[in-house]
Amino acid sequence: MMMSRGYTRLASSMFTMVSPRFFSTAATRGVLSNDMVKAPAVGLGVRCRSSMAAIGGGDKEQEKKQAVGGGGGSAKDDKEIVSYWGLDPTKVSKEDGSPWKWTCFRPWDTYRADLSIDLKKHHAPVTVLDKMAYWTVKSLRWPTDLFFQRRYGCRAMMLETVAAVPGMVGGMLLHCKSLRRFEHSGGWIKALLEEAENERMHLMTFMEVSDPRWYERALVFSVQGVFFNAYFLGYIISPKFAHRVVGYLEEEAIHSYTEFLKELDNGNIENVPAPPIAIDYWRLSPNSTLRDVVLAVRADEAHHRDVNHFASDIHYQGRQLKEAPAPLGYH
Ligand SMILES: [Fe+2]
Ligand SMILES: [Fe+2]
Repeated sequence: MMMSRGYTRLASSMFTMVSPRFFSTAATRGVLSNDMVKAPAVGLGVRCRSSMAAIGGGDKEQEKKQAVGGGGGSAKDDKEIVSYWGLDPTKVSKEDGSPWKWTCFRPWDTYRADLSIDLKKHHAPVTVLDKMAYWTVKSLRWPTDLFFQRRYGCRAMMLETVAAVPGMVGGMLLHCKSLRRFEHSGGWIKALLEEAENERMHLMTFMEVSDPRWYERALVFSVQGVFFNAYFLGYIISPKFAHRVVGYLEEEAIHSYTEFLKELDNGNIENVPAPPIAIDYWRLSPNSTLRDVVLAVRADEAHHRDVNHFASDIHYQGRQLKEAPAPLGYH
């Protein structure tokens, strides 16, 4: 429900952005011709302002007025980026009335993790394809264990850079399929993109407690290049196999986070306070710790496991994803 409200707002703002261009070309031309002189100051507002300040140390207020003159916006002291297009950021508040500080997600994107989900559920591989998926994932665990050993904070951060890829690739391919075939997706495009965004939020959270070294960044760069293309091809050839692989990857993620919790509980990893971004995203209490965050993330992974095994099962039954309504907002 919350996600759909978010998408409705997004759709509304997209419409506002797009409509003047497509529905009032003449009006847009008029504006451009009238404000042609002002346009450079607006379009390059930030750069120009800094250059001018550097050269002359001029009147900042006058500068701001010139910059916003073509956009019809109001100059405010705290406004850093001026816009011709009138896309002022929406003012959002928390439930207690304090200002919402995150721009990467909004209150309607937040939720309480469902910690009651069964973490032990497992899809037993029976068919050849399932066994291939299972052993593909198992074989990837060996180099992962070797590289990270028991550095679970670092391991989580690095693996989330990979985990956020399949949802985006699958969602993109279903999106293109929907366009090509003039058909609905059953909500699966949105469901897979939600998964990708959720995984990316895991990464944004773990970034707060772990700092990647240069060679780890290089590794992410390389792995992303290989994994994105491999998953893209794999999904085109067999979405049944691709979703099964992700289902097993999520089972491994649950295992990794369980090990992470053990390390926190036996004191090998310091149970630091939860990062503020995690407190707001999972609606945790203000005195939450890293342990609470890992519990929430592990619950998310269990939900991703279910979604991907379900998607694979739909294909196994000779059906298409669009025939089974997607589990939207399933966290
Ligand atoms: Fe994740
Ligand atoms: Fe996941």
